[in-house]
Amino acid sequence: MNYQEIKSLNKEQFEALLQLSQTLNTASYEESLIEQMLDWVLKIINAERTVFAKFDEAENKFKIISARNYQNENIYDLTEFSENTLKQVLKDKKPILYHNVQSDPNFSQFESVQLKNIQSIISVPILRDDKIWGIVFADTRTNRKDFTQENLIFLNFFANLAALALDRIISFEKLRNQNIILQNRIEVQDQIPNMIGESKPMRQLAKLIHKVAKTDATVLILGESGTGKDLAAQAIHNLSERKDEPYLAQFCGSIPDDLLMSELFGYKKGAFTGANQDKKGLLEVSDKGTFFLDEIADISGALQAKLLRVLENREIIRLGDTNVKKVDVRIIAATNKDLKQLSKEGNFREDLFYRLNVFPITIPPLRERREDIILIAQSYIKNKLNKEIQIDAKAVTKLESYYWPGNVRQLINVIQRAAILCDQNKITEDDIILEDDKNLLNFDGTLKEFEILLLKKRLEQFDDNRTQTAKSLGVSVRWVQLKLKELGESEE
Ligand SMILES: Nc1ncnc2c1ncn2[C@@H]1O[C@H](COP(=O)(O)OP(=O)(O)O)[C@@H](O)[C@H]1O
Ligand SMILES: [Mg+2]
Repeated sequence: MNYQEIKSLNKEQFEALLQLSQTLNTASYEESLIEQMLDWVLKIINAERTVFAKFDEAENKFKIISARNYQNENIYDLTEFSENTLKQVLKDKKPILYHNVQSDPNFSQFESVQLKNIQSIISVPILRDDKIWGIVFADTRTNRKDFTQENLIFLNFFANLAALALDRIISFEKLRNQNIILQNRIEVQDQIPNMIGESKPMRQLAKLIHKVAKTDATVLILGESGTGKDLAAQAIHNLSERKDEPYLAQFCGSIPDDLLMSELFGYKKGAFTGANQDKKGLLEVSDKGTFFLDEIADISGALQAKLLRVLENREIIRLGDTNVKKVDVRIIAATNKDLKQLSKEGNFREDLFYRLNVFPITIPPLRERREDIILIAQSYIKNKLNKEIQIDAKAVTKLESYYWPGNVRQLINVIQRAAILCDQNKITEDDIILEDDKNLLNFDGTLKEFEILLLKKRLEQFDDNRTQTAKSLGVSVRWVQLKLKELGESEE
């Protein structure tokens, strides 16, 4: 394009170009926008139909980005246009301006029929590094005016502007898609912050936590002691929309009922001896945020009733008050007990259980994800102890074959001790002290006695939970029940 050519554009066309460039500069990819632009181009050059197509090098053909007719309709089939012209532009990489197509020997018999009524064709290649990037093509019918040299110049300007913008938009779209994919990948398979674990159950758990975090659903976290229930509850809050609002937790196990109740619900002055002034409860303080009820299985019937009200209506009443307050709080609860069983046996309100059990999450015991043991140990040494300590092969085996009744919490204690005991920054087998090692090794009774000793020990470790005890011993619950019966320790 030379200076003379540019000068030949009239005011209307310059204005149109300016408008187009501005639109293209702000546009994100929207088909309607490109369609709109082509409609504009159609009007300015007085064309019947126009196509904006990109050249696909792999398939060696043009592909329509957008094609329009003067009735502002889409055209989807490129074969409706002159094949010869497209081929020629591809070959010569030069603009084309044909008049009188019907009598032009350049057009085959077939094309003349196909292009019946087509009078004038205009076509501009879009070049990028001397290669065809795409094409802008337009045609008119006999009853319309012929295209002019000016139209060609205009179209050339437009084509290059549009191609530049489109490239930018396409790469932007690509980045945006990538971003969505990456974001999703993090959510789908990566871990929860602070929760180490690459094992399949932990990945599944992470997925679940990410999903439920986005909702306001009540979550019940189940799992043995030390499996990471606290961590999971915090993660759910931190990954939720409530993350900038308060997160409060209350340990509910083995705390006197009155105390627990006044902590959770607050009280009015004079509610009981010692209530010298009004006090806000923790549930009230956590308004708009998340409240974590830890070890919920042991709470009293009175407290269960009060919590039911919170879960059903998000309402609280301070002790000694009649005033009902609304709170917007998301509830997460946790227990290492079999809450379902407890509710079946009548030891926990069934209606409360169902209210809590909206979205149960079970954290698997460490012995069911042994590949995480070393990961957790190493991460703890490096990130929490800030030390460079190796764990030798035999120590690794010892750690991996233990059954970890205290789960991650116990593992961390064992590693802490080992890190102190070890020499030359290397943890060996001897540095790993597992609690019941000695008992087992020094035992000198009969096999029968050993069986009973082991069973009792496990029952103790699992808070008398027979399911978990059976699982850890690799026997059926029935076996455990029979043994206890033998010992006269079962009510069954
Ligand atoms: N997957 C894990 N990765 C790293 N540390 C963990 C993991 N799970 C638990 N822990 C740690 O183990 C300890 C016990 O976890 P916690 O959430 O209190 O267990 P729970 O509430 O189930 O008894 C905490 O110090 C916690 O940081
Ligand atoms: Mg806990």
